[in-house]
Amino acid sequence: MILARGITKTYRIGPVEINAVDSLDVSIAAGEFLSIVGPSGSGKTTLLHLIGLLDTPTSGSISIDGMEAGDLSAKELTRLRREKIGFVFQEFNLLPVLRARENVELPLRYLKVPAPERYHRAMEALEKVGLGERANNRPGQLSGGEQQRVAIARALVTNPVLVLADEPTGELDTYNTCKVIELMRDLNRETGQTFAIVTHDPMVADYTRRIITLRDGKIASDSAGPEVEMRCDDIR
Ligand SMILES: Nc1ncnc2c1ncn2[C@@H]1O[C@H](COP(=O)(O)OP(=O)(O)O)[C@@H](O)[C@H]1O
Ligand SMILES: [Mg+2]
Repeated sequence: MILARGITKTYRIGPVEINAVDSLDVSIAAGEFLSIVGPSGSGKTTLLHLIGLLDTPTSGSISIDGMEAGDLSAKELTRLRREKIGFVFQEFNLLPVLRARENVELPLRYLKVPAPERYHRAMEALEKVGLGERANNRPGQLSGGEQQRVAIARALVTNPVLVLADEPTGELDTYNTCKVIELMRDLNRETGQTFAIVTHDPMVADYTRRIITLRDGKIASDSAGPEVEMRCDDIR
């Protein structure tokens, strides 16, 4: 589904250059359920933005479903992203003036889904993350963990074939972390949606089928995860 060849992302701050992602090769097949781990600053967010087509590599190439991202216009890239990819941002990126439900409806608006269906699907997505009751609250009225779950609902509402989640449980307690990953795993098993989850929580990585470890912008290891059976109700 995603094939990245020799991708490098270089940032320059004054005279200093840093390769946040450094000559990295990776492929992600349809239906995978994987985690990306590594120390802070190892390039996890940068890599996720590159494979999510939110950013372009300084060198190297990325293809999605056989299409070269570099050959697509900005408009085509936006369209591909809206139709195929759900992204959970590390900083949530919720719009403060919109209610939780309206934030979740936004990607459906871009896809020109009619209002009544948008409403229904956004409510359903919020209920799946346990926030049906908070649909009318604006982000400022929600806790960090609740805002994070709104951001997850927004990424899932379009039923994207690929979900990229940047530390999606960073603000959640153990029980809600388990419930969110369980929701993703169930979707993966039932619909075949592909998930790549950046995390620094070993519990989350252990729930996945493949663990990619980054270090200094390179892949330090890429191995099978234990895919531990989840028992969220035992955590409560
Ligand atoms: N916009 C930017 N400008 C300059 N440096 C950046 C930028 N974004 C990330 N970096 C640097 O790139 C490296 C990787 O960052 P990041 O991808 O955010 O890592 P992680 O998500 O693993 O913590 C870090 O050294 C970071 O400081
Ligand atoms: Mg990060």
